[in-house]
Amino acid sequence: MHRIDLAVEGAAYPIFVGHDILGELGSRCSEQGLGRQVALVSDEAVAARYLEPATASLRAAGFQVLEVVYAGGEGMKNLAGAEGILAKMIEAEFDRSAWITALGGGVVGDMAGFVAATYLRGIPYVQVPTTIVAQVDSSIGGKTGVNHALGKNLIGAFHQPRLVLVDTDALRSLPGREAVAGMAEVVKHALIRDEELFSFLEDRLEEVVAMQLDAETLDWLIARNVEIKAAVVSADEREGGLRAILNYGHTIGHAIEAATDYGRYKHGEAVILGLIGAGEIARREGTWTEEERRRQDALLERLGVPGGLAEVGAEQILARTKTDKKRVNGRSRFILGKRVGEVEIVEGIEDEVVLSGIEYVQQRY
Ligand SMILES: NC(=O)c1ccc[n+]([C@@H]2O[C@H](COP(=O)([O-])OP(=O)(O)OC[C@H]3O[C@@H](n4cnc5c(N)ncnc54)[C@H](O)[C@@H]3O)[C@@H](O)[C@H]2O)c1
Ligand SMILES: [Zn+2]
Repeated sequence: MHRIDLAVEGAAYPIFVGHDILGELGSRCSEQGLGRQVALVSDEAVAARYLEPATASLRAAGFQVLEVVYAGGEGMKNLAGAEGILAKMIEAEFDRSAWITALGGGVVGDMAGFVAATYLRGIPYVQVPTTIVAQVDSSIGGKTGVNHALGKNLIGAFHQPRLVLVDTDALRSLPGREAVAGMAEVVKHALIRDEELFSFLEDRLEEVVAMQLDAETLDWLIARNVEIKAAVVSADEREGGLRAILNYGHTIGHAIEAATDYGRYKHGEAVILGLIGAGEIARREGTWTEEERRRQDALLERLGVPGGLAEVGAEQILARTKTDKKRVNGRSRFILGKRVGEVEIVEGIEDEVVLSGIEYVQQRY
């Protein structure tokens, strides 16, 4: 088992990564000195597989478990969904010593984390992430929140978990499209920080996506990604500077999601498109070579570049990049590749260059 310790101002917590470790949930939570009452929040698909062992482990350690299972899905990640969970906790007369376990993907983690941040002005929570996105990204770093009808993740709070327990066995039941979308963030991590990880993916990407890696190698892969995310977050908890590099591929990716009303692409799929667009911008700006860009795109093509972007207006996507808070004086700030394993933040990218990046993706795929 791997243990990664994350320290940010006012909080420090362990992240355990291993296989067949869900049964340790209860004892790990005991070690953290958490109170007796816990709300175990999950969605239906995850609960069908993992709720029972999670509950059993918590009960065996002496915790009193309130199971809260809801339909799941991005459409439920809103204030009404959060209110539903809050109502169950109020009805059960949970007090300040109570806490929450989020068992599921990023949707469950973000919403349960948000409930933990707000119930009685804040109670502890534990993350048990079950998707690649959640294991390598959303469960780490303390960003919690829900969507509003007018935009994604607009309502939220920074609230760090007390413990993250990552059982990589859960990934074995992940649907293929979810695995591909999650791997987009893994490829992103390799591109921003770790050429060795990138080379590993060049060797074994198909095995990873098909979840055919042996348990130790999968543990290593997830743990390495946790380390990358944790290192960036601890250096810059609130996204003042360094944390922005985690947004590589996300300016165009988010714009594509918004321009297609979040219905056409999964977040990770939009990130794949955004990485390719940013790669073209980097080539035009001369921050990296044609060869580096080719290497990036070749791996993304093996992962699977979703088609159909040509049906979405390039100008419309460009317009959506402009709602990005990082614009200064009408020009955009982009994370651009320097070489595989390193990126830089570049200010003042002209709209025309951004447009050419979008059009490049549209014409090629
Ligand atoms: N807080 C952050 O820093 C952060 C970072 C990245 C993403 N996010 C958020 O994460 C969300 C996306 O997360 P996601 O991709 O995990 O989506 P998700 O939670 O909706 O999970 C995807 C689907 O997989 C199912 N599922 C989950 N685990 C499974 C398993 N082990 N086996 C079988 N099925 C399983 C779920 O029921 C769901 O249908 C978005 O709302 C996004 O905004 C947050
Ligand atoms: Zn992302």
